[in-house]
Amino acid sequence: MNRKTTHSIIAHKKKIPIVVLTAYTTPQAQILDEYVDILLVGDSLGMVLYGLPSTLSVTLEMMIAHGAAVVRGSKKALVVVDLPFGSYQASPEQAFINSAKVLAETSCTAVKLEGGVEIAETVGFLTARGVPVMGHIGLTPQSVHTLGGYSTQGKSREEAEILLTSAQAIEAAGAFAIVLEGVTPDVAKNISETLKIPTIGIGASPDCDGQVLVTEDMLGFSRNYIPKFVKHYAELAITIENAVKEYAGDVKNRSFPSAEFCYPYSK
Ligand code: KIV
Repeated sequence: MNRKTTHSIIAHKKKIPIVVLTAYTTPQAQILDEYVDILLVGDSLGMVLYGLPSTLSVTLEMMIAHGAAVVRGSKKALVVVDLPFGSYQASPEQAFINSAKVLAETSCTAVKLEGGVEIAETVGFLTARGVPVMGHIGLTPQSVHTLGGYSTQGKSREEAEILLTSAQAIEAAGAFAIVLEGVTPDVAKNISETLKIPTIGIGASPDCDGQVLVTEDMLGFSRNYIPKFVKHYAELAITIENAVKEYAGDVKNRSFPSAEFCYPYSK
């Protein structure tokens, strides 16, 4: 089974919407692989899996461990691994050294990094040296403190223009796709219509060329704050809690393990 490539993802543009979900583990990737085009090993894992207050303290080692697990659990989807905060902003050379480590140690296809015009030179440096890059603009969680919180971007005409310029700069630098997170629908539509590479929306617009959600959020498997744009396709936290409650009751009243779950007695 051949994996999707950056070229096959670009070919979706204006045709079939691109399905993207986050994945952090092998069993999760095994389930999602059949149904998605891209598995994103997002640095959101810091908050979702590790209970960190933001993505800022996620390390390259964490991203490599989870990236390798997701690649092992998938055959079809293109796997993109996030470069964590502090691993690429210092210089294009730093970004290349860390991207090369991610590609070599996980066998993923591409890296994702956050930022607009200010990071375009780095994106160009990476793509010119064989590192496929997915961009990410708008509400960029690694900049939560400079943005002043997790609020929608692109509300003023000035912000909308900056976002469009940033998207164009990332495209010109060679990115194969770009995430538009937490931007107003009109801004996302305009960027999607302007760019030749696909846009992947999250809290953005149905007019993006694809959509991404954090899997734990859409499955109701997270006790974190869930934003308005997340549709719940399941309520796994409730399902798991009910199952665990039943197991605890069975253990306490000795109805588990019953004979069917025990090996035969010795003679
Ligand atoms: O870290 C992440 O999961 C992401 C997506 C939400 C786009 O960047």
